[in-house]
Amino acid sequence: MPLRGIGYCSLGILYLLLNLNTFIFPTASYVLKDCRVTWNTEAICQNRLKVFPKDIPIRVTNINLSRNRISKLKKTDLVYLPNLLRLNLKRNLISKIESGTFACQIFLEVLILNNNRLGNLQEGVFEGLVNLTELHLTSNKIQTVSPASFKSLSKLKFLDLGHNKLRHLTNILQHIPHLQTLYIPANKISNFPSWELSNKSTELVSLDLTQNQLMVFSLTADIFPNLTLLNLDGCIKNGIVWEVNDTLHLSGVSKLDISGVRSTSHGMQEVLETFNSSLKYLTLNHVNNNLEILIHISCKIPSLTSLKVRNNGIKVIRSDMLHLCTNLKELDFGTNKITDISENSFQSLRNLNILIIKLNHLSSVPCAVRNVLTLSKLDLSSNNISMLAVMILPYDPLRILHLNNNHLLALKDCVFRDLVNLKHLELQNNSITKLNGAFKKYMPNLNVLYLSNNQLAFLDHGEFEALKSLMNLSIQGNQIKSLQSGPFYGLSNLKYLTLESNELRINRNSNPDFGDLKALKTLNLMNNQIKYISDNPIAYPPFAELSQLDTLHLSGQHGRLGTNLPQNFLQGLTNLSVLNIRSSEFNSLHPLFFNYTRNLKVLYLSANYFTDIPDNLFSPIQKLKSLYISQTHLRSLDFLLHANLTELEFLQVRKNAFSVIREPVMQSLSALVYLDMLGNSFTCNCDNTWFLQWVKNNKQTQVYDAYNFECNYPPNLIGRKLLEIDVRSCTVDMEFICYISTACTVIMTIAVSFTHHFLQWHLVYAYYLMLAFLYNSKHKNKRAHQYDAFVSYNATDEGWVLGELLPKLEVKQGWTLCLHHRDFQPGRPIIENITDAIYGSRKTICVVSRDYLQSEWCSREIQVASFRLFDEQKDVLILVFLEDIPMQQLSPYYRMRWLLKRQTYLSWSRADAHPDLFWEKLQQALDTQEHPMGEHLRLTVV
Ligand SMILES: *[C@@H]1O[C@H](CO)[C@@H](O)[C@H](O)[C@H]1NC(C)=O
Ligand SMILES: *[C@@H]1O[C@H](CO)[C@@H](O)[C@H](O)[C@H]1NC(C)=O
Ligand SMILES: *[C@@H]1O[C@H](CO)[C@@H](O)[C@H](O)[C@H]1NC(C)=O
Ligand SMILES: *[C@@H]1O[C@H](CO)[C@@H](O)[C@H](O)[C@H]1NC(C)=O
Repeated sequence: MPLRGIGYCSLGILYLLLNLNTFIFPTASYVLKDCRVTWNTEAICQNRLKVFPKDIPIRVTNINLSRNRISKLKKTDLVYLPNLLRLNLKRNLISKIESGTFACQIFLEVLILNNNRLGNLQEGVFEGLVNLTELHLTSNKIQTVSPASFKSLSKLKFLDLGHNKLRHLTNILQHIPHLQTLYIPANKISNFPSWELSNKSTELVSLDLTQNQLMVFSLTADIFPNLTLLNLDGCIKNGIVWEVNDTLHLSGVSKLDISGVRSTSHGMQEVLETFNSSLKYLTLNHVNNNLEILIHISCKIPSLTSLKVRNNGIKVIRSDMLHLCTNLKELDFGTNKITDISENSFQSLRNLNILIIKLNHLSSVPCAVRNVLTLSKLDLSSNNISMLAVMILPYDPLRILHLNNNHLLALKDCVFRDLVNLKHLELQNNSITKLNGAFKKYMPNLNVLYLSNNQLAFLDHGEFEALKSLMNLSIQGNQIKSLQSGPFYGLSNLKYLTLESNELRINRNSNPDFGDLKALKTLNLMNNQIKYISDNPIAYPPFAELSQLDTLHLSGQHGRLGTNLPQNFLQGLTNLSVLNIRSSEFNSLHPLFFNYTRNLKVLYLSANYFTDIPDNLFSPIQKLKSLYISQTHLRSLDFLLHANLTELEFLQVRKNAFSVIREPVMQSLSALVYLDMLGNSFTCNCDNTWFLQWVKNNKQTQVYDAYNFECNYPPNLIGRKLLEIDVRSCTVDMEFICYISTACTVIMTIAVSFTHHFLQWHLVYAYYLMLAFLYNSKHKNKRAHQYDAFVSYNATDEGWVLGELLPKLEVKQGWTLCLHHRDFQPGRPIIENITDAIYGSRKTICVVSRDYLQSEWCSREIQVASFRLFDEQKDVLILVFLEDIPMQQLSPYYRMRWLLKRQTYLSWSRADAHPDLFWEKLQQALDTQEHPMGEHLRLTVV
């Protein structure tokens, strides 16, 4: 078996290593589908899950998976969570746990499987839990426990098997020898023979067998030497076989609960004798019959100091009921029906310290308590006491007095006169309307006074004047309207004051007087009526003297829409660290508002009507660690940009109206670890790309419940999940750009060298084409032609041009020609001259010879001209062939070939016979004004 466990465990580690990408990386970030991780690395997953969640970060030590619908634990469920200390699977539907599930959980200390459907615990189910100290299995359907199922739980100290269907505990402690607490309440155990559990001494300290129908309790060996707590509530019935053959076997038990005992006095005597030397605390609730006899038997146990007899329906405590209980220090009669206590009842309780008679029907403080001179705590809460007689009692030792939840109406001034040592007085939940000076003279040692939920409407000047030691005063839930009278005069040691839920009106005309509370640490003014119309400064800031105040609660003011707070409202609170002004209908705060509270660490501003936060509002409170600003109608978080909250760790901005979160805002919160934006919806387009990727990938800040953020825009994505939106197309990936541009450069270079090598002329052509195009666009509007024709020729043909062409065309026919040697402007770039000449002439005559074709100049000229041909869709080019050039020789000059196929040309070499016809045709060609392309004037076809 252990081998199998180790097998799974190493399998798990292998699994982890092989799946680094799918496990470690996603789980290292904070986007969890079904869980959230709290500050102390507890993962809380309550999402009606049917299977164990897969995305819990590896560093999590504590998982709360209670209240889901998981039905089975698989051996792979926990392999990637090797750091767990505590796993809570309460209230699921688990009926099966695969062996090896816990194989890797060598650190797990607490496992909670309460309220599931586990049947029998098979061998090996908890294999691997070598460090487990607590195992909770309450409320399953367990009928048998194989001792081997606890095999590796050698450190187990606490085992709760309550509310199952166990009949026997056979050998249950075999593998868990260090168990200290065993809870088996509400099972079906009828026999409890000690030899079934163990034959040697155990380390059990606490054993709970509550509500089992015990027939036999048999202790034949000293297996419980350490047992101090034994709970047999509801176990002891008439006829039970109580076999403890040596009273020393239970001699360590000091706390015993035999509530619900149904037994004869003889039987009880037998049971209680067993504990005669050690018992200190005895609980006898729900006994009903024979209670007095039981009390008598119990009180004979010399060590007994505490007796609890709750829920016994006692109506009257008679004088002889407790006469044997001389050693009792604590007596609890809570939850009975006591109306009357005879005056001598407590007379013999010479050591009584604590007397609890709460939840009874007393109508006054019983006189019987006067005789208990040792009483330090008296609890008379939840009775029907309406009048408090003057307590003229030597109550010197009384420290704690509970009179809460009675019907007290008004106090009298000397009612607490003798309670000089009283430290703690609870008077809450009565109907007290007036204090009548009860606290003006007495109780100089009182520390705590609860007056909450009474009907006080007014506090006098110096109302608590005598309470020099008072530290904690609660007047919550009364009807006090004003504190102008100086009611706190003398409370120079008060640290905590609660005035929550009164009708206090604090405004420009009604200023509360807190001036005496120099030591105050916490002031709660929640749910009152603080109401100022403007933020103009006030003359007497209410907290000006409270320099020690650490926490101020102002939330829930019933102002009206549009209320404000004066800009110096917080003046004097130099040590304030927690300020709560949530739910108060404030609609703005002055930029100087926090100027007085520079030590603020936690600020609650949620549920107000701020639509705008001044840019510099938070500038003075740079130490802020937590900010709650939910439900405030904010449209953007940009105000944080100016705040410089570099120490902020926690930000809650639920239910606002953000749609886009910008990078600089989040970057400015450099210490943020937890961001709660629940209930916002977001723009799901490229505007939120940064935010989306930040939520997914950042390792510092957990964005709570980010997986469920929804889109509110664009309309076709409304309701979709933000994190599921694909924004890859939004991001320009630099690497990709580099790759593409490098690739392009390489291809271009190859292409250029290739072209240069093989298609040089095409390139050159393209270059001139471009120049012509530029020239053309430049001169589009000035098309007055300077020349009739530009003659393009090679120097070798100059003779023919000057000897034949020039005289014929210029002299005889009267055309103006442009000749480069004659008409080109010296100093200008040659290409400009060419383009000028071509565009400045109506036509271009190319004198074509073999030399011409080979001449660079001429081919440039022909290129520009042929561009013009296409550009203007005019027949501007006249080709004159001086010699016959066969097509195959033209082939390198593909441009010429191309032209010849669609262009008019004249052949001088073939015009020998009729030179006049040649000149005539040339004149015609020069004459044509707008000769549409393709209309051929072919004389000779080569
Ligand atoms: C078991 O838990 C204790 C603390 O309770 C711890 O110190 C110890 O290192 C743990 N041992 C193992 C093997 O995990
Ligand atoms: C204790 O001893 C008895 C007989 O001596 C035996 O039947 C029983 O199984 C033993 N119990 C345990 C827990 O070993
Ligand atoms: C306990 O022992 C005392 C003597 O020490 C005896 O008087 C008393 O009756 C015994 N009580 C019970 C319940 O056996
Ligand atoms: C912001 O705060 C940090 C430290 O809290 C400080 O060093 C820095 O100068 C502040 N920047 C601005 C703009 O106030």
